Amino acid sequence: MNASQLQPAQTQPTAAGQTLYGGVTNRRVTVRDLAAAKQRGERWAMLTAYDALTGGVFDEAGIPVLLVGDSAGNCHLGYETTVPVTMDQMVMLSAAVVRGTKRALIVGDMPFGSYQESPAQALHNAARFLKEAGVGAVKLEGGERSARSIELLVEAGIPVMAHIGLTPQSVNAFGGYPVQGRGDEAAHQLLRDAKAVQQAGAFSVVLEAVPAELAAQVTDQLAIPTVGIGAGAGCDAQVLVWTDMAGMTAGRVPKFVKQYANLRAVLGDAAREYAAEVAGGTFPAPEHTFK
Ligand code: KIV
Repeated sequence: MNASQLQPAQTQPTAAGQTLYGGVTNRRVTVRDLAAAKQRGERWAMLTAYDALTGGVFDEAGIPVLLVGDSAGNCHLGYETTVPVTMDQMVMLSAAVVRGTKRALIVGDMPFGSYQESPAQALHNAARFLKEAGVGAVKLEGGERSARSIELLVEAGIPVMAHIGLTPQSVNAFGGYPVQGRGDEAAHQLLRDAKAVQQAGAFSVVLEAVPAELAAQVTDQLAIPTVGIGAGAGCDAQVLVWTDMAGMTAGRVPKFVKQYANLRAVLGDAAREYAAEVAGGTFPAPEHTFK
């Protein structure tokens, strides 16, 4: 059965205890809850998380879906792109996020080289995410080109979030991070990709860096939720990389990012104040000292 054919857990609007926000709290969010949210038009937010600490903060804040993105490569592990990230690294980070959270659906992002070889390779590595990290779903990049792998994973009982438009693992082929889906042919290809992943059984699809009008059109034509990043307000859900959203990223962030805090400045100030107090001999004070 395709995810698009799943009966949602609850199709009527805003019954207390059923909505993603302010709703069920005594179990993890499931892909059925997300299907129900699309039915009733409830929009939701996804954030990335790479460790138990921040995952726990976002879980307590009620974020229903956390993506252990391979953006960990550039946001957490110090690489320039997502390309060098390995399965072992992703499993380790995902397991930490699972341990630090109680309610969010945790999605493990399949890194470059972990699924492109064959559907069998995709199944082998997706199964590692579920068995070793305990995630509830996996994400992989590609539309029509990944459809057979998505199908096999879904047949095996692994919920799959697809990712089309700008797929950062293809940075070397794209020659950077250009907006996708501009022009008639590219727009038609994006629609074909979206329909292919839905047909293959994906429970949702990330649309990255595509014109807002096209993303809205895709969203209207799909039964599964679209998750936009740089894809305008017409998507069913939005995702941001947490370090961008919270102002931890050094330097410029993409145009589509809104910074809701300036944590880099806050942490830097705390570190400087601590260092100054140590150097000046005012920390530790008597109240921080054992007698
Ligand atoms: O790796 C990641 O963080 C992602 C999101 C930007 C969708 O793929």
